[in-house]
Amino acid sequence: MNIIVLQGSPNESGSTAILVEEFARGARAVGHAVERIDVAHEGVRPCAGCEACGYGARPCVQHDGMGAILDKVLAADMVVFATPLYYYGMTAQLKAVIDRFCSENSAITGRHLKAALLTAAWNADDWTFEALVAHYRTIARYLDMTDCGMVLGYGCGTPGMTRASKYPRAAYELGASL
Ligand SMILES: Cc1cc2nc3c(=O)[nH]c(=O)nc-3n(C[C@H](O)[C@H](O)[C@H](O)COP(=O)(O)O)c2cc1C
Repeated sequence: MNIIVLQGSPNESGSTAILVEEFARGARAVGHAVERIDVAHEGVRPCAGCEACGYGARPCVQHDGMGAILDKVLAADMVVFATPLYYYGMTAQLKAVIDRFCSENSAITGRHLKAALLTAAWNADDWTFEALVAHYRTIARYLDMTDCGMVLGYGCGTPGMTRASKYPRAAYELGASL
């Protein structure tokens, strides 16, 4: 498969990146192609809500880093959403990218992509990821994506905490299971 990882942390070597790299290592070990995009550094502006795209009828009027990301998502078999937990949701940078799916909404839905979620949080309470998981599942359902698994990194507040946890291994195994 051709797998695109939308890595939503501004930290390129942070906890989310650790999970992404382990996931990629596992997926590559079984023959998949994985490309990681650090979306926070791709100059993607938020959706302006202008509806000029007609939700997929016409291209977005904004010309920024999103064009290249859309091309890659549309050429992929699987999209992985990777994000640190920010106020119990995904980062604004990743959300901006998902909102900008708008101009290719039907085309993305028509791809019937596979999907996964990789995430890291400081907290370890059992309810830590409830809202994020609900949001991810709802996005996947709406875009007709098939969930292939989630790695929910409880207690992964720093790269050191994350490396010492069981979640890098879980991310590797998720990648290798594909
Ligand atoms: C703006 C901001 C909001 C955060 N919100 C939460 C939160 O709601 N719950 C939580 O457990 N951790 C929260 N954290 C902690 C991060 O999720 C955690 O440190 C994570 O490991 C950062 O990942 P990164 O190294 O990939 O950036 C927040 C951190 C920041 C900077």
